[in-house]
Amino acid sequence: MSAKVICVTNQKGGVGKTTTAVNLCYYLAKDKFKTLLIDFDPQGNATSGLNIDKTTLKATMTDVILGQAELSQVITPTKYKRYDIAPTTPELANAEVEITSEQKRFTRLRDAVRTVANNYDYIIIDLPPSLSLLTVNGMIASNYVLLPVQTEFYALEGVAQLLESMKLVMKQANPGLRLLGVLATMYDKRTSLSVQVYNEIKKYFKQLAFETTIPRNVRVAEAPSHGVPVGAYDKFSKGAKAYKAFTKELEERTK
Ligand SMILES: Nc1ncnc2c1ncn2[C@@H]1O[C@H](COP(=O)(O)OP(=O)(O)O)[C@@H](O)[C@H]1O
Ligand SMILES: [Mg+2]
Repeated sequence: MSAKVICVTNQKGGVGKTTTAVNLCYYLAKDKFKTLLIDFDPQGNATSGLNIDKTTLKATMTDVILGQAELSQVITPTKYKRYDIAPTTPELANAEVEITSEQKRFTRLRDAVRTVANNYDYIIIDLPPSLSLLTVNGMIASNYVLLPVQTEFYALEGVAQLLESMKLVMKQANPGLRLLGVLATMYDKRTSLSVQVYNEIKKYFKQLAFETTIPRNVRVAEAPSHGVPVGAYDKFSKGAKAYKAFTKELEERTK
């Protein structure tokens, strides 16, 4: 077994990257896949959204990137079967600066991921809202890029730049990297703008656009404040059902 590694990226903030990563992992694990979520955003929203107590952590992704800990030492189980997380802290941002002049700065995450890849079916990497060294590390470590796009005005702004970065990574470091798909988030079928943006996504990305859209749903937004994925908070909510359906679609695509 070697894990399928997927990074969730979009240099825009607030588009649903972390929400998608946390909930995708929940349903992958429910579908019996051994799943690891790597929190690779210094903001640590995935870590806190799963109620991981940062004060009790002995080591985090920050230490992994600095070469001071093995990834296996950092991984902790969540409350859910088959769902592990490698948490982070805000110091990851400093670590990024510290390694900028080092030779292996681009491949640190990849090298770490390789040490645990045989223990998982899926490894999902939540990335920060930037095209930074952390994001490049994420792309080099991955088989696939998952791109969540918020269905609102300016949604596709910056996407061209992201695809450029991806191409560069493919050319120079990771030729096997593929765009897995584009996920429309915070979709509101009652507003023509949402519908219009989703149609634009389908026109541009064709079959790479996921059929499932994630609706704007208050239960999705509430769940992290209770430290749980939406599926554990209100599994009958529209948001939970959408993430469940999306996960199935993703499983099909990565078979
Ligand atoms: N489908 C949704 N419905 C309602 N709120 C959402 C939805 N998806 C995300 N949010 C909220 O929007 C905010 C940004 O989402 P987040 O996943 O943190 O984005 P990113 O990781 O891209 O910055 C968060 O407060 C989150 O709870
Ligand atoms: Mg985030």
